[in-house]
Amino acid sequence: MERVIIIQFFFASFLLLSSSTSLAVGFNVPAIFIFGDSIFDAGNNHYNKNCSAQADFPPYGSNFFHHPTGRFTNGRTVADFISEFIGIPLQKPFLEAQLELVNGSRKEYPSNGMNFASAGSGVLRATNQDLGVTPIQDQLQQFKTLVQQNLINNKLIQNSLFFFESGSNDIFSYFYPFGGPTLTPDAYVQSMLSEVTNFIDQISKLGARRIGLFSLGPVGCVPARTLLPGAPVTKCYGKMNKMVKNYNMGLENLGKSIPIKYPGSFAVYGAVYKTVQTFRTNPKRYGFSDVTNACCGDGTLGGLLQCGKEGYKLCVKPNEYLFWDYFHPSEHTYKLISKALWSGSHSRIRPVNLKTLANMTLIQH
Ligand SMILES: *[C@@H]1O[C@H](CO)[C@@H](O)[C@H](O)[C@H]1NC(C)=O
Ligand SMILES: *[C@@H]1O[C@H](CO)[C@@H](O)[C@H](O)[C@H]1NC(C)=O
Ligand SMILES: *[C@@H]1O[C@H](CO)[C@@H](O)[C@H](O)[C@H]1NC(C)=O
Repeated sequence: MERVIIIQFFFASFLLLSSSTSLAVGFNVPAIFIFGDSIFDAGNNHYNKNCSAQADFPPYGSNFFHHPTGRFTNGRTVADFISEFIGIPLQKPFLEAQLELVNGSRKEYPSNGMNFASAGSGVLRATNQDLGVTPIQDQLQQFKTLVQQNLINNKLIQNSLFFFESGSNDIFSYFYPFGGPTLTPDAYVQSMLSEVTNFIDQISKLGARRIGLFSLGPVGCVPARTLLPGAPVTKCYGKMNKMVKNYNMGLENLGKSIPIKYPGSFAVYGAVYKTVQTFRTNPKRYGFSDVTNACCGDGTLGGLLQCGKEGYKLCVKPNEYLFWDYFHPSEHTYKLISKALWSGSHSRIRPVNLKTLANMTLIQH
């Protein structure tokens, strides 16, 4: 049996021992596997005809791809930027790759990883189920099936990055007026974290070695909060952000437990919440003229109507806005977040940044 051991020493630098494995030139990462919600979705919902959470119409994609791709922003997402930094092609949505295999235009699954994220989904199965989204458990099952059928190479999995970002939709849904939550905020967050624990356990057992866990952003600040009764307009929704911070803290602790529970595996925690708050407190420094309203949408804060739906309005300079639409950051925001995660300091991502993680040498015995 092959064992993979990571040797870490002082202050986030890594001791490289000579061994039978050769040192990779450049970055040691051929692929990224991506799981989560609309922050990452690159078109899975678009290829899922049963799903009504969509962004596959103009002006989504208008500032980079110049056509809608199913991404919920005006250009690239964090997963796209990190792929560019590593120097590998952008990951395809799993459902697109699957379709291509079925119709014969592709012979095998891509070697640069795949994107399983589904907009609107959460870590709780029930979240936005009525929209036909793919919850994290089903995303995991899609990946697991490919691994079990040997359609993804084990060696590839060991060397890949695994990205996880989910939970915003669960927390936002907690505040919907109908149905009414039956759990306290703390119990609800705990139920979310137990699903994340399960996800991490499963993904580790399937061979994931380098895992990126990304915190939620300040969900209580999204323009779409104006859809909720009782949410403040002139400031962020404090009650919601409190739950988000609680969840993020639990997520960071889960990350710390990974190398202990799964020797040879390693996880980093991306502090997206804190990173976005620095943009909000110092907009000009980061090139923002508006960190409150949606560039594209309508109504209070631009938060009452989805971008692209009948009657929407579009701002002149999307990349001067923190928010592209009622829920989602602009490409400019994603780019800044990506840079912070890639090469940022301990306050942005820890214990090491993605650049270090991507260049870690896994020592095989
Ligand atoms: C990866 O690390 C090695 C050893 O520290 C270094 O020589 C190499 O330049 C690094 N590669 C990149 C792309 O940073
Ligand atoms: C197969 O599916 C892909 C993805 O939808 C599509 O772009 C392509 O044109 C299809 N090819 C054939 C031969 O039908
Ligand atoms: C389609 O979505 C509905 C909910 O809108 C769900 O009940 C049904 O099971 C889904 N069908 C498929 C084939 O996924």
